[in-house]
Amino acid sequence: MNSSHCTGHDAPIAAETTELQALYANFQAEHLAPLWTQLGNLMPQTPEPKTQPHLWRWERLYALAKRAGELVPVGRGGERRAIGLANPGLGGAAYATSTLWAAIQYLGPHEAAPEHRHTQNAFRFVLEGEGVWTVVNGDPIAMRRGDFLPQPGWNFHAHRNETDQPMAWLDGLDIPFVHYVNSDFFEFGANQPEDRSTPDVSRSERLWAYPGLRPLSRLMPHPSTPLLCYRWEHTDRALVQQLALEAEGHAATVHPGHAAVRYVNPTTGGDVMPTLRVEFHRLLSGRATPLQCAVGSAVVQVFNGSGALTLAGTSYTLNKGDIFVVPSWVEWSVHADETLDLFQFSDAPIMEKLEFARLAVRPPA
Ligand SMILES: [Fe+2]
Repeated sequence: MNSSHCTGHDAPIAAETTELQALYANFQAEHLAPLWTQLGNLMPQTPEPKTQPHLWRWERLYALAKRAGELVPVGRGGERRAIGLANPGLGGAAYATSTLWAAIQYLGPHEAAPEHRHTQNAFRFVLEGEGVWTVVNGDPIAMRRGDFLPQPGWNFHAHRNETDQPMAWLDGLDIPFVHYVNSDFFEFGANQPEDRSTPDVSRSERLWAYPGLRPLSRLMPHPSTPLLCYRWEHTDRALVQQLALEAEGHAATVHPGHAAVRYVNPTTGGDVMPTLRVEFHRLLSGRATPLQCAVGSAVVQVFNGSGALTLAGTSYTLNKGDIFVVPSWVEWSVHADETLDLFQFSDAPIMEKLEFARLAVRPPA
């Protein structure tokens, strides 16, 4: 961006005088603030996010979530045993970035989290384990390893563990953005939905989970996906086939050795929810993503494999379950030591709708 619009930087600042001090005091008394003393903060030349680059290790997250499971009950009031990732740049708020919430949620054997609904959009992503059903508007949906379960805003939802084993998963939401624009509404539902069944396939999948086939009874576009579970077997198969096609000489991947899919709303072909973009990437051993930065922030979890992350010039090792945040306009790239599977979500739909989206890519050296 051309900085020539920042004429305030060149304006002579009057020497501090008694009159000037009085003027500033009067500004303050009237709840006014002059532009010329703060233009640099109001209009930086490039984004200056408070969100800091940060990485959480899964083994530490899981151990603490497990300990919370031993000490902290789950139920009405607290609603969820979810432990938010609190970005060190955001003043102690449990916000992963300035727009995104990410948390590890833990449910012990035969525990249940009560029903509620809120305007915040949410999803679950399962790193490992199974045995919990999330119930959305009375539709019980099995959660299993690698599954992505969108939870569009204002739908009633509850969770229950039907096994003798605990289960933990990643929750992602747009809580900070919704809070910032003061559009948050919340309602309690039943303590638990009436339907206690444990179907292998949910009603949502029975209606919507057939590629390229749309029920004629549901032809209207919907702002959020009506498909409430994207199964790992489909995600994995799509990535396997992209790489197989590439190996056979056909165009299929985003870069050589880099397969990727975006979870989409089958009624529009767009993002699964109005505020959240969710993707899954697979990098073959020895491959790297280009160094790039984008407007908006993202959260990434390693689903499988190992590698190295370069984030804002700092290097980190990556192992299964690790979660890192990419603040707006911060450079990052990932290198796979062994085949690396990455689940990632971002606020890109917000940035695109508002025409703020920008991407800068530095070609590989
Ligand atoms: Fe919720």
